[in-house]
Amino acid sequence: MIKKCLFPAAGYGTRFLPATKAMPKEMLPILTKPLIQYGVEEAMNAGCHVMAVITGRGKRAITDHFDISYELEHQIKNSSKEVLLKEIRHIIATCTFTYTRQNEMKGLGDAILKGNVLVGEQDPFAVILADDLCVNPEGDGVLRQMIDLYNKYKCCIVAIMEVPNDEVHKYGVIEGNELENGVFMVSNMVEKPSSDKAPSNLAIIGRYILTPDIFTVIQKTKPGKNGELQITDALCEQAKKGMVIAYKFQGKRFDCGSVEGFVEATNYFYDLQKSATTS
Ligand code: G1P
Repeated sequence: MIKKCLFPAAGYGTRFLPATKAMPKEMLPILTKPLIQYGVEEAMNAGCHVMAVITGRGKRAITDHFDISYELEHQIKNSSKEVLLKEIRHIIATCTFTYTRQNEMKGLGDAILKGNVLVGEQDPFAVILADDLCVNPEGDGVLRQMIDLYNKYKCCIVAIMEVPNDEVHKYGVIEGNELENGVFMVSNMVEKPSSDKAPSNLAIIGRYILTPDIFTVIQKTKPGKNGELQITDALCEQAKKGMVIAYKFQGKRFDCGSVEGFVEATNYFYDLQKSATTS
């Protein structure tokens, strides 16, 4: 059973400066909800109730967001604004939040390794990169789809999507054999390759199911792209043993780590909200 979801959230968010100078990028709102809350809701819908957050210096707002604000509760009690806190109250009441800090920016692999203390050694766990905002208006959320697949294959799962060749350098890229529609047995993975070195145009997006043996593998992994410890490199070791599945998810993904993707997501959710209120 996958009950824990890890949220690496220690990055600086330099692409959003100056907005992220004193505020965590995970707290930037799409409409009225911070990015990380979308991720937490996706994890809850997939059956997770322990949210393990890897934070860093200057990220206090995330911890405060997922805690009760007694002053605010007192202020808005019985007012028309109370309804705006409905979702976050529900999250706080039903989930447990745990935190640890990544002191140095040594890569996503290192951030996930720091999460070992929060998710333990026994059970598989999910990872959500809140920058990648995923929606599936047609049905189950992306993490739910991946957990269903984990229950079938019982190994690490990465979510993938096709990207244009001139964008592969932004992603981890997989090579694999299609086992069933949209499901690949991964044989190789490369972190941010140039387009001429990419094994395919199937790019990893920020959703993973990892088995706990990944921690030992990360510990043995050498720094890779940009001198950082890459989860892609650790997973590649597992892939060579036939233990990684890549899944072309159903739904839509917004790259909210870029200003363009962030604006696209904002427009998408605004239109959605508008059509819900006018219909
Ligand atoms: C990370 C991963 C990369 C993955 C991407 C998805 O990169 O290292 O493999 O494709 O997330 O968003 P980042 O975007 O943090 O540089």
